[in-house]
Amino acid sequence: MAKAVAATVLLLGVAATGLARAQVDAEAAQALAKRNDCFKCHAIDKTKKGPAYKRAAARLKTKPDGVEVIVDHLTSGRLVELEDGTTEKHKVVDTTDPAELKNLARWILSL
Ligand code: HEC
Repeated sequence: MAKAVAATVLLLGVAATGLARAQVDAEAAQALAKRNDCFKCHAIDKTKKGPAYKRAAARLKTKPDGVEVIVDHLTSGRLVELEDGTTEKHKVVDTTDPAELKNLARWILSL
């Protein structure tokens, strides 16, 4: 009996870890960001040419459509103003896979 309970607890633990991983795969998100030169303009917690990811996260975290706002931002290439005052079209990520895009957005929101 005790063994069965222990096995169930263990299984639940594994399932919960799996779920958390499914929500945000930080490694995949960072690899995608690296490949797309995102870190040239963004750092996690300091301003570079663009705002720190934490700043974007703080603003969008509580919004129900935060993930969609970021995915839209990363796929629409709209005009943005850099810290030095110049404007250019924002980088469009080189993937159209919704799962990859959402994972990247969720990772940013988790910061
Ligand atoms: C050439 C510099 C540059 C590069 C490269 C760049 N960004 Fe940005 N990004 C900016 C600037 C500047 C802003 C601020 C836009 C604004 O507030 O109008 C911004 C804004 C953002 C925001 C906030 C959007 C919001 O609605 O607040 C996110 C998220 C973001 N970038 C993610 C990324 C990701 C992911 C990549 C890589 C695919 C990337 N950026 C590449 C300059 C850059």
